[in-house]
Amino acid sequence: MPEVQRLDKFISSQRSDLSRSMVKELVRKGKVTVNNTAAKSPDMKVFPDTDIVEVEGALVSYKKHIYIMLNKPQGVVCSTRDGLSPTVLSLIPENLRRKGLFPAGRLDKDTEGFVLITDDGALAHKILSPKNHVPKTYFVRLAKEWNTSYKEQFSNGIILSDGTKCLPAQFSPLSAPNECEVVLHEGMFHQVKRMFEALGNKVVYLKRIKIGNLFLDENLPLGGCVEIIDKNINKLFSNLV
Ligand code: URA
Repeated sequence: MPEVQRLDKFISSQRSDLSRSMVKELVRKGKVTVNNTAAKSPDMKVFPDTDIVEVEGALVSYKKHIYIMLNKPQGVVCSTRDGLSPTVLSLIPENLRRKGLFPAGRLDKDTEGFVLITDDGALAHKILSPKNHVPKTYFVRLAKEWNTSYKEQFSNGIILSDGTKCLPAQFSPLSAPNECEVVLHEGMFHQVKRMFEALGNKVVYLKRIKIGNLFLDENLPLGGCVEIIDKNINKLFSNLV
């Protein structure tokens, strides 16, 4: 069934600079048109998929969902509510806020980096579902130097201390002897930390730098957010590493 919305609600959901009361005022002044006819009332129904809504001559383009890249700092939790610590949602600036936003996937409180925030449950499911194997790439700093055997152990599937066998993953050493990148195709609780523990090492710093084939924007400061533009959304599901 086509989606129907109240005109004022629709406009204010798509134009962060216009509150519902501002939209009401613009309608009253005859500055809002629907299919080239001045809107008579702010509560008239519109079909966002097909109706042409304009405010002072500017088309209100319809985006059903929003996708936000957040560079999560340490000390912030990946939940929608928390009594004690700030949540990732508290970092979303006013102009990107919408009802129904949630983090698609979790990072530990002390992990930094790429968190996807969206109001699109279907897309989040696609990214998180283990059967889709969407790779997540992490930069890791270890307490001790990495060992050349790690590469093979990661690709064979590491066995955690509780006996769980991880899916094959990729380990890539970096030039510093205690720094590396790992790519996982699943997301178990504290997985990266537990994998290195199983190898007798310890993660001292962890940052997610890529989801699917989409890199965290390196110009984004810690705590910063940016909307993911359309052409990059598909990169989130890419299985290419
Ligand atoms: N693995 C971890 O151990 N922690 C994270 O936050 C993400 C992956």
